[in-house]
Amino acid sequence: MKIYSNDNYEHMSICAADILCEAIRPNCVLGLATGSTPVGMYSELIRRYEAGKLDFRNVTTVNLDEYVGLRPSNEQSYRHFMNEHLFDRINIDKERTFVPDGSSDPELECKKYNDLLSSLTIDVQVLGIGHNGHIGFNEPSDEFSKLTHAVRLSPSTIKANSRFFASPSDVPISAITMGIGQIFAAKRILLLVSGKEKAEIVERALFGPITPKVPASVLQLHGDLVVVGDEAALSRI
Ligand code: F6R
Repeated sequence: MKIYSNDNYEHMSICAADILCEAIRPNCVLGLATGSTPVGMYSELIRRYEAGKLDFRNVTTVNLDEYVGLRPSNEQSYRHFMNEHLFDRINIDKERTFVPDGSSDPELECKKYNDLLSSLTIDVQVLGIGHNGHIGFNEPSDEFSKLTHAVRLSPSTIKANSRFFASPSDVPISAITMGIGQIFAAKRILLLVSGKEKAEIVERALFGPITPKVPASVLQLHGDLVVVGDEAALSRI
């Protein structure tokens, strides 16, 4: 495991963009995440694209997850988030950007996503981490999931994500997420962590027991795990 500690969020976003850019070349496959943590890195990628330093023409992306019940056009959907924070602002072919469709039948959508993921190899998978150690929407559980599946969100995740909705009761209660096995199959994992409130879970995930009760702890076993954080999130390690 490599850990890059940066003095603030801006510097960690630049550091994360540097690492992701190593993989950006024609026909690469990037695994992407939503949430607050990667937003600064996406802004940095846009800045480099606008400066003529990056070309996304033949890049494919696969996102980790999506809320069940939200149409891609819904402002709270992860498809909308990705369009707004990255895809609409770079020269990527939208046909090559994949986010599960939350408005489709979840079972069919999971099957479709599993077929897609089995047809490609992710070069770098970007991850954030939930306060309960979730990655994607793989919540603490009795076993590590292998494939894309529908999950019921935990109360703590609903609470944390309610900041993006008018009220907690508007947060969808379930989601479709890539399985831990599919995340783990990426050649490289780029885990982004920011903020003091993540310090405890970051310590448990990276140095505590490997257990599905802390889904991110499985990343300790990955052969190419790169952690990029700010000092606050890394303060306990
Ligand atoms: C998002 C995702 C989640 C987030 C996690 C952290 O696609 O899969 O696992 O990465 O909830 O979210 P933030 O970055 O908002 O703290």
